[in-house]
Amino acid sequence: MRDLILVTGAAGFIGFHVSKRLLDRGEKVAGIDNLNPYYDPKLKEARLAQLQKSRAFKFIHGDIADTDSVQDVFAEHGIQRVVHLAAQAGVRYSVENPYAYIESNVLGFQNILEGCRHNHIEHLVFASTSSIYGSNTKQPFSEHDPVEHQVSLYAATKKANEAMAHSYAHLYRLPVTGLRFFTVYGPWGRPDMALFKFTRGILADEPIPVYNQGQMVRDFTYVDDVAEGVVRILSVIPKPNPDWNGDAPDPATSNAPYRIYNIGNNQPVELLTYIAVLEKALGKKAQLEMLPMQPGDVPSHRIPPADERRRWHLELRQVVSRLLPDLNIRTPAPTIAPKRNPPMCAHHATPTTCSVPDAAASDRNPFKNCIANQIGRNTSARVSAIAQ
Ligand SMILES: NC(=O)c1ccc[n+]([C@@H]2O[C@H](COP(=O)([O-])OP(=O)(O)OC[C@H]3O[C@@H](n4cnc5c(N)ncnc54)[C@H](O)[C@@H]3O)[C@@H](O)[C@H]2O)c1
Repeated sequence: MRDLILVTGAAGFIGFHVSKRLLDRGEKVAGIDNLNPYYDPKLKEARLAQLQKSRAFKFIHGDIADTDSVQDVFAEHGIQRVVHLAAQAGVRYSVENPYAYIESNVLGFQNILEGCRHNHIEHLVFASTSSIYGSNTKQPFSEHDPVEHQVSLYAATKKANEAMAHSYAHLYRLPVTGLRFFTVYGPWGRPDMALFKFTRGILADEPIPVYNQGQMVRDFTYVDDVAEGVVRILSVIPKPNPDWNGDAPDPATSNAPYRIYNIGNNQPVELLTYIAVLEKALGKKAQLEMLPMQPGDVPSHRIPPADERRRWHLELRQVVSRLLPDLNIRTPAPTIAPKRNPPMCAHHATPTTCSVPDAAASDRNPFKNCIANQIGRNTSARVSAIAQ
């Protein structure tokens, strides 16, 4: 009986959380990863060590760009469903290292598609990105809008993945779902992402680069919400949409078994607000190095009205408070712990006791689920709607 879920990029940030969630639900997971040095592989090994505590987890050290190895993985294991997260991530790195993206994101993805095709995989769920919206300015970003103007090679490879996946859904009736993630944050996060880079810079009194003079806006999604979304969507196998109309083609669906969803929080935050809140949480001023727009970056999407900005500020306070226990693990405790703000309860919007029952409460953050529920409420509502 085929009952194994293959997770590619299992030692990565999102792959680790997805694998853990699947294991916690009693699934059997095979995780493949090449543990590449894009960022410190020790972090990847540490994530793997957590997963390997479960006997239901099997690690395959391999490269998805190696066609023969990927074929062997599919042939040797009874794989039922696939969560494809392995990729060369990062927008700025693609400016200097374009071939890394072609190898992992295009050739690697092709190998996964072939493995799925020849082994009659029930459902392939793969990671796409909000960067795919590129030059689009219409807000909020919708999967139903055309996305034809990517501004980085990274985003272009993800766009290629969506097109490649659709062709396999059409030709071989392979059920595929693409998920566009929006800046994911949380424990075990990627050290190349802004939160960790800024925190390290502020604590070390080093200037932090602020692109486009700070005129940038991002939507942040908590990694637990992303993992929950992936796991739920994995069991929602797409069917051809009988209402799909080629005269007015909806990019998010098809007459093939194919779907595209945004997995975001729809709570955009301005970069300068983000930095101000980090300063407050760390008890230290940042040295800002104002820089022009970087090639490949998506600029500020829109300047929000004042009441929205106040709401974001509150939201980000909650985001940072939620992360402080994690930052505390990764930075020397004496530097940050004495100045740490208490965790905020999002239900009360103050650092107070929350009466909401919380099974996952801990000394580090007594409001863990309470805050996560609030921050992730749009994501969760969205995922519930999809998974109905
Ligand atoms: N983190 C985010 O904010 C975000 C946002 C949008 C989309 N995504 C997408 O989500 C997925 C996971 O991202 P992440 O943040 O966990 O990144 P990550 O870099 O932490 O994880 C990717 C993992 O894939 C592995 N990998 C890369 N190339 C490989 C190859 N050729 N063979 C085998 N393994 C390989 C890496 O070693 C790494 O462990 C990626 O597809 C990424 O593009 C992430």
